[in-house]
Amino acid sequence: MHLTHLACTLCGKEHDATVPQNASACCGKPLFAHYDLAAAARTLTKDALRTRVKSLWRYHEVLPVRSEADIVTLGEGWTPLLPAPRLGAKHGMGKLFIKDEAQNPTASFKARGMSAAVSMAKQFGLKKLAVPSAGNAAGALAAYAARAGMEAHIFMPRDTPRANITECEQMGAHVTLVAGLITDCGAEVAKRKAAEGWFDVSTLKEPYRAEGKKTLGYELAEQLGWTLPDVILYPTGGGTGLIGMWKAFDEMEQLGWIGSQRPRMFTVQAAGCQPIVRAFESGEKFAAEHLGAQTRASGLRVPKAIGDFIMLDALRKSGGGAVAVTDEEMIASTKEVGAAEGVFPAPEGAACYAALKHLLAAKKIHAEETVVLFNTSTGLKYLECYGK
Ligand SMILES: Cc1ncc(COP(=O)(O)O)c(C=O)c1O
Ligand SMILES: [Zn+2]
Repeated sequence: MHLTHLACTLCGKEHDATVPQNASACCGKPLFAHYDLAAAARTLTKDALRTRVKSLWRYHEVLPVRSEADIVTLGEGWTPLLPAPRLGAKHGMGKLFIKDEAQNPTASFKARGMSAAVSMAKQFGLKKLAVPSAGNAAGALAAYAARAGMEAHIFMPRDTPRANITECEQMGAHVTLVAGLITDCGAEVAKRKAAEGWFDVSTLKEPYRAEGKKTLGYELAEQLGWTLPDVILYPTGGGTGLIGMWKAFDEMEQLGWIGSQRPRMFTVQAAGCQPIVRAFESGEKFAAEHLGAQTRASGLRVPKAIGDFIMLDALRKSGGGAVAVTDEEMIASTKEVGAAEGVFPAPEGAACYAALKHLLAAKKIHAEETVVLFNTSTGLKYLECYGK
């Protein structure tokens, strides 16, 4: 709609948005989409939004797809922001919320990014898409590629939750299980893509998945009456959710919808895979790979992220931070969230609640603040983690 160009997130160099792009040719880093926001603001108004479609495409002026005919949708986005009064009351909190991303197609927030990326692939006439995935991005690509009549070539670790493997197979994707981590899957895609004619839609090596994810930020503001919470806790692997929201806040400020105040953003990682937490604590700009990564929260088993410096910058500028929690804490937190609020969170979502407890105890979050936990998927996709 109002997309003007792409720009390298490290050096700022402009890149062409009229052809398919991966990581920036200048620095090998993520590209961000830029828009003519003044033009977008002429039709994208708070008033106009009242009557729009209840999906992320309600914000189409600030999304990259040129023609409505290219939009590949399964009804993603506009998920509920659920008040969590019983969970909050345990900590004297009156304004605790859960953004329930399990209510997306394929039951995870990954649907947002893949809807945008596959729509752009359709606009560009691409037919074969490939992705390395910890699991949920794979399921989402399988679904949107099927919806668009494209091929999905998916590489996942062999020990990815069964639900992710089955959903990909049942939606007609070509599934390869790799003995290794998501980084090994990424290497496999990189090695084969040229010969196979695949377009690589890896996290942040494709510019438009982040655009789909940024609608999380727009929704949050709209659902809170055009205010932002004091604190956001987000489970982070590759970082698109957190990075996307951070980008949305800047755009909304330019649109004149919010001021310069930002929520304190906290990354939540697993104790067994916490590259961003380590880099945050040691003051590094980039994060070293977490060797020997291990956690049952498969979405958090991302030992190295290409957008590490963007995440770290957002955490620091927002006055937030980075917290690691153990798998045991995630599993215990799952039942607490489930029993208190009727939401059966994914381990990654439960991790946010476990992190909240740490941050309250450390007085980095205060009980009277407005706090949003992101439940990025459902426990139903991780049945291996519970019981016998
Ligand atoms: C359920 C869930 N939560 C969180 C994440 C982390 O997301 P990101 O890699 O965008 O940081 C993932 C990634 O696979 C996931 O599947
Ligand atoms: Zn660059």
